[in-house]
Amino acid sequence: MAQRDLNIIVCVDPRSCLSHYSRGRNGQDLLEKLRQVAQEEGLEDRVQVTPCRCIFGCTYGPRLDVAQRWSGEKALYGTSQGRVNISRRGRVDMNQIPADLSKLLQDNLPPSQL
Ligand code: FES
Repeated sequence: MAQRDLNIIVCVDPRSCLSHYSRGRNGQDLLEKLRQVAQEEGLEDRVQVTPCRCIFGCTYGPRLDVAQRWSGEKALYGTSQGRVNISRRGRVDMNQIPADLSKLLQDNLPPSQL
C-alpha cells in the first residue's frame, strides 16, 4: 500500500483522553469523527486515523498527533493553542482541535498544486 499523506493518531487512553472533551468530543468521538470526515471527503487513501494510548500532554487532552508524511512535520493537537510544556516531550507547539475536523485535514494535507 502506498504511503499516506497523513497519519493521525488519536489517544483513546482511558486514563485521561476518554474523560477529557474538546467541543463535546472525547478521544473516542474524535477518532470516529475523523474517520468519518476522511471517508466523506474521499480521503481514505490519503489519511490514516489510528487509535493509540498516551502520547503525552494529557492536561491538554483529548490529544491527537498528525504526522505529515509528505513534509516530515508533525503537528500536535489538544485543547490549547500555543507553546506549552508537556511531559517527556518538553516545550511544544500545540494546536487547538478545530470544531470543523475537515479543516484539520485540509490544514495538514499538501498544498494543492494549481
Ligand atoms: S492519556 Fe491521552 S495523551 Fe495521555
